[in-house]
Amino acid sequence: MSGRVVTETMVRVEGVHKSYGVGAAAVHALRGVSFEVPRGELVALKGRSGSGKTTLLNIVGGLDTPDQGRVEVEGRDLARLGESELLRLRRDRVGFVFQSFGLIPILSAAENVGVPLRLRRADPREREERVELLLSLVGLAGHAAQRPGELSGGQQQRVAIARALANRPALLIADEPTGQLDAETGHAVMELLRAVVHSWGHLPGPLGHWGRVTALVATHDATLLDLADRVLELRDGEITED
Ligand SMILES: Nc1ncnc2c1ncn2[C@@H]1O[C@H](COP(=O)(O)OP(=O)(O)O)[C@@H](O)[C@H]1O
Ligand SMILES: [Mg+2]
Repeated sequence: MSGRVVTETMVRVEGVHKSYGVGAAAVHALRGVSFEVPRGELVALKGRSGSGKTTLLNIVGGLDTPDQGRVEVEGRDLARLGESELLRLRRDRVGFVFQSFGLIPILSAAENVGVPLRLRRADPREREERVELLLSLVGLAGHAAQRPGELSGGQQQRVAIARALANRPALLIADEPTGQLDAETGHAVMELLRAVVHSWGHLPGPLGHWGRVTALVATHDATLLDLADRVLELRDGEITED
């Protein structure tokens, strides 16, 4: 993306407020949230259900806007980006992973991973090569032709992670990616996210020229927190650092 500011701070959030509804029925989901995420870290965002995690991740990823406050991704103030710039930021710089995987049921694992590359109209040969690398990166090289319904939950989430990485994002945003998985599978998925963040530059072939990835991962699973470089906690719409 042209004009990108090179910065060691991947995400900067300052004084963000977000409410849903009005008057007495209003829910103040975020009440002046501020924090920074340095490039190349795996940061966990913990907090019980309803504490504002999803609201915050959607705002950081440019899927939603704050009522008040400022959000910067790679030094770019999201409020100052035009519609198409924001679209490109979401498509090219940010990868999203959701609790419910969000795969397209009628497409194979490989086709699901290739979707973001098709949207970018990547050269078909480049696309196939990259899809293959990504599937092997997440340990699913032998499952390329299977549809989501033919894969376990943990495998589906790994396909979703491969898809989120397809455009080689700088920032990976994952909203309770292990929420639908059993403890052991959830741990393996978190280990994979950690490996992606920590092994940067050591990947084979075209994936190696990527640059460091930062991940912001919401979870309310306490056993996953020790895999993070840093833990932020949301409590009633306010953030504290562990
Ligand atoms: N679209 C919405 N409309 C109304 N209230 C919402 C909406 N989304 C979230 N909320 C409320 O905002 C608060 C924070 O929700 P959320 O960000 O989903 O928290 P978490 O992801 O930590 O469970 C909750 O009280 C929730 O009910
Ligand atoms: Mg949530």
